[in-house]
Amino acid sequence: MTKISKNTIATHAGLNPKDNHGIPNPPVYHTSTILKPNLDDYRNHRGQYDYGRLGTPTSEATEKAVAALYGCDDIVAVPSGLAAITTGVLAVVKSGDQALFPDSLYGSGRRFVENVLPRIGVEAVFYDPTASVSDLEGLTTKNTSLIYIETPGSLTFEMQDTKGIVDLAHAKGALVAADNTWGTALYYDVFGHGIDIVIEAGTKYISGHSDVSIGFVGGNGEVGKAIRNYAINIGLCVAPDDHYLALRGLRTMPLRMKQSEQNGLALARWIEEQPEVVGMLHPGLESHPQHHLWKRDFTGSCGLFSFILDAGIADAAVDAMVNNLKLFGIGASWGGFESLISEGQFKRSVSARPNGRVIRIYAGVEDTDDLLADIEQGFEQMRKA
Ligand SMILES: Cc1ncc(COP(=O)(O)O)c(C=O)c1O
Repeated sequence: MTKISKNTIATHAGLNPKDNHGIPNPPVYHTSTILKPNLDDYRNHRGQYDYGRLGTPTSEATEKAVAALYGCDDIVAVPSGLAAITTGVLAVVKSGDQALFPDSLYGSGRRFVENVLPRIGVEAVFYDPTASVSDLEGLTTKNTSLIYIETPGSLTFEMQDTKGIVDLAHAKGALVAADNTWGTALYYDVFGHGIDIVIEAGTKYISGHSDVSIGFVGGNGEVGKAIRNYAINIGLCVAPDDHYLALRGLRTMPLRMKQSEQNGLALARWIEEQPEVVGMLHPGLESHPQHHLWKRDFTGSCGLFSFILDAGIADAAVDAMVNNLKLFGIGASWGGFESLISEGQFKRSVSARPNGRVIRIYAGVEDTDDLLADIEQGFEQMRKA
């Protein structure tokens, strides 16, 4: 058989009906205890499973499915996307190391980097996500052990030169970790691009229904083992129902992403033409300054993008536009079935902050024309206010 598409892997990976009375979906085992037939087996950890927190057929099904999608040795499920970030970083850094993070880093990830890493003796340095590789090299030291990327940044959507960064990191003996929540395994081949650690907030597209908090983090070989051991050492595990819901979401992820992508592009193209809009931050559009990097590295775009409104527009008018939308909920997160709108809050330290209000849209899976009609009437409200 020729190489199987990721769309097909998403529908089949992690299924084990032979061991489950022919039932395709995995059983949801609620357990802490796993009994052994005798003390010798208990003492020697015989048997496939040892203890609920360490793994069950339920957790294994989800983790194996996501690992199959990424084509990597091991993926660990953790209780949130943020926990995937912290686990991926803490598994590979140690006191005395230096680690580089993009200024566009997801906000809660930034809080972790600023508050936790200094306490364990890791020097965290923020870099401009659009910096050239040679500028980035200038920030490295002999102690650099990790370069973290988020491409695109999930608020301002700068694309990063993954190839250049991976080459630089590896030449310095450092690892590269990527938050791939935007691209997902479907649109961005993390390990094919030489990245060492993948991080994905499964809360978003994998679960897909805004009802689960889960994260995935993993890698190959020794890196994959280090991540698994770290998660075990600090006691991370995910409740069985959340595993089940995440895996159920995964089955339809290719379809949902396709619709979300189409809606996102249609909305971004319409919004970009409006006179009040001074910046469109969607890497899949030709107007994006790093569109060439998206085109080189990605096979699709998700439904999350931002735009910048002219700084001269009154706050009340912007609020009128957002508050009057009927199909876009005002709220955090993304990757679910429903469209959302929110506003960026910035904690930049080394790169420019956009001038004007940054509105972020998540295009869900609704009908494209309905979403367009809603955003059009929203802009009308802004003009009338
Ligand atoms: C890019 C990115 N990474 C990670 C996270 C964290 O995910 P969670 O909310 O599951 O902790 C988010 C959440 O919005 C995100 O946007």
